[in-house]
Amino acid sequence: MSDAPVTHIDPAAFTADPYPVLAQMRRETPITFVPELGATLLTRRDDIHREEKRIDVFSSVQPGGLMEQIMGLNMMRRDGEPHGTERRALFPALSPRTVADHWAPRFEQIVSDRLDQLAPQGGCDLVRDFAMPVSGAALCAMTGLTCMTPEEMDAASQQMIDAIANYAANPQVEATGLAASTRVDDAIAERLPQVRAAPDPSILSVLDRAEMPLPSIAANIKVIIGGGQNEPRDAIAGLLWALLAHPDQRALITSGDATMSEAFSEYTRLVAPIQMAPRMVARRDTVAGVTFELGDRVFLMFGSACRDEDHFDHADHFDLSRDTSAAIPFGAGPHFCAGAAAARTLVAQYAVPMILDRFPQMQLAGPAPFAGWAFRGPTSVPVTW
Ligand code: HEM
Repeated sequence: MSDAPVTHIDPAAFTADPYPVLAQMRRETPITFVPELGATLLTRRDDIHREEKRIDVFSSVQPGGLMEQIMGLNMMRRDGEPHGTERRALFPALSPRTVADHWAPRFEQIVSDRLDQLAPQGGCDLVRDFAMPVSGAALCAMTGLTCMTPEEMDAASQQMIDAIANYAANPQVEATGLAASTRVDDAIAERLPQVRAAPDPSILSVLDRAEMPLPSIAANIKVIIGGGQNEPRDAIAGLLWALLAHPDQRALITSGDATMSEAFSEYTRLVAPIQMAPRMVARRDTVAGVTFELGDRVFLMFGSACRDEDHFDHADHFDLSRDTSAAIPFGAGPHFCAGAAAARTLVAQYAVPMILDRFPQMQLAGPAPFAGWAFRGPTSVPVTW
């Protein structure tokens, strides 16, 4: 165990709102061991930005960990060349060029179809009725698993994530996660002959053409389902909440003084949809006076980094005029989000501007509670139009 100073947390309070505790950690014990999480947390932006790149110490390899048990060994749990090989294989499916040429028109169609369905309702919960199905449909398209519905995609994502965080070894949670993993295997088995007959830019087709072995294809598609569903969902619903709750900031977009892409950057800084990434210490080392031991569990707290007072004035405010370039909601090392261009395009170019254009009178119709310290977003955003 590292010799970092110990900070105790109340897990329920940390899940409801981790930010006050994270601010205290950044101020008093920026690298701290939290017994309730069994991990040493790095909470300052510059520490994370620097140390995440030192993969010889802060490794992504976690043999036999829960993610590997549920999904199989994928790029998020590899370092160095084995990681690079899988990243390069994936690139043609999610490159900025592929996103612009191939996925953008699909995203536009997905959002447009959903808005047609919602229009007569006069109101909805933006999380459940808009952000979730749009994110799910986009993920069905990008993965190539078009035989799954957006609802099935959302359920599989949540069930696998729950099983990966199942540190209490609840057998029901494990069984449900494994069943979701098997459903994804079945969808891959159904779609593989079809994309072989008619190759396309989907992740399934691209990884297959790169001759990645099937277990690795399945494991990487599962990690993308785990990481590519909730995050765009939370960014769509969260950014819409932020703009509806801050009309002065929304007015900056209307007047042309800020762009939707800047609003996306500011929202993901304010509420990072992925708040943390785990690492395992691969060799003894000392960082900022703290000595880490082989096998220590470390959490890189991206959400905390994005509110670091050393980089952001009034870090708790939604402010479209700020410089967000120091923010790291997509990571800061070799595992930098492979879907960042797709996420920004889906959220900032289509989902959020299209619904605001379609329902210009849309307004909040109740409270929008936020939850989560590992993944964070609104659980419900009721609106009327
Ligand atoms: C707003 C939406 C999203 C956010 C905030 C987000 C954030 C992140 C973060 C923080 C990481 C870990 C970075 C690290 O450890 O340094 C990550 C990794 C990853 N993300 Fe995303 N993500 C989003 C959407 C997506 C989408 C839509 C996809 C794919 C369709 C995707 C695919 C991936 C993959 C494959 C990795 C693993 C990369 C690797 O291990 O090399 N993400 N993402």
